[in-house]
Amino acid sequence: MTRLLVTGAAGQLGTELLAAASARGIECVGVTHGDVDVADAQAVMHAVDRIRPTHIIHAAAWTAVDNCEADPGKALAVNGQGTANVVTAARQVGARVTYVSTDYVFDGTKVGPYIETDPTNPVSSYGRSKLVGEQALSSDDAVVRISWVCGYAGGNMVKTILRIAENQDVLSFVDDQRGHPTFADDAAARIVDLALADVTGIWHVTNQGEVSWFEFAREVLIAAGLNPERVRPILTADLQPPRPAPRPANSVLQNKAMADAGWTMLDDFRVPLKRLVVRLLSDSKN
Ligand SMILES: NC(=O)c1ccc[n+]([C@@H]2O[C@H](COP(=O)([O-])OP(=O)(O)OC[C@H]3O[C@@H](n4cnc5c(N)ncnc54)[C@H](OP(=O)(O)O)[C@@H]3O)[C@@H](O)[C@H]2O)c1
Repeated sequence: MTRLLVTGAAGQLGTELLAAASARGIECVGVTHGDVDVADAQAVMHAVDRIRPTHIIHAAAWTAVDNCEADPGKALAVNGQGTANVVTAARQVGARVTYVSTDYVFDGTKVGPYIETDPTNPVSSYGRSKLVGEQALSSDDAVVRISWVCGYAGGNMVKTILRIAENQDVLSFVDDQRGHPTFADDAAARIVDLALADVTGIWHVTNQGEVSWFEFAREVLIAAGLNPERVRPILTADLQPPRPAPRPANSVLQNKAMADAGWTMLDDFRVPLKRLVVRLLSDSKN
């Protein structure tokens, strides 16, 4: 019998992982930061031993990229050692781990999209700590890299863009960082399906459609029925104040492993974007 354990259950993605598991009728237990600190090996072992999952989706992470830059030790403890703790506990109960990782394991200098087998070279403390997490997995486990995540729960760029649009006539967004915006509900459904299919190795899972943040902000305004000409492009070098952690200029993840294995691609990002914007605007009216 399948029993799924989800870490990071209160997060942007974790919330949708629980929903996706529930929609599939799978027995699922979510643990939050308040329940278990993944950096605490004993606490992780205790929780996994009590829950006895067959599958673990490890989505917990310290995701505050700029704060990770200031405290690389904590980033490594949570994202690197925390993942090793989850893997060690999983082995004790015979569970497979699906680890949620990031486009930030790449340096962003490649011309063209990144495939799963491309060499990693993180340029930030967050990216390095997430790569250490990837390296803690065994050949029985899977890594799913996602990018530019937006969802209903928690803070994200869609909410930020809508908030700025409410308060400012002109919005400035960088036009020299490109990626695949990925919506938490779509990604979560696919991650649950991949985990239950017992896949191993590295998988890129993103919505389709490549944009810069400038182009994405325009799409958010279009989805909200606002004038996209209010968004103007700037360069990362022009950001004031500059952000402490460097971001890869090219974050585009090609979903090659899924295509090769016959999985359908997730929708173009404009489909879940519209869904999310409609929901957020309806919330703000109520
Ligand atoms: N957001 C993105 O754009 C993005 C892009 C690529 C990959 N990812 C990856 O996707 C996964 C999910 O991210 P997300 O967007 O859902 O981020 P999120 O909303 O920040 O969720 C992460 C969750 O992990 C929890 N957490 C933090 N430190 C922990 C600890 N020491 N022990 C246990 N739980 C802890 C957080 O709880 P607290 O908030 O209470 O600390 C939070 O609920 C992460 O692995 C992240 O690295 C995210």
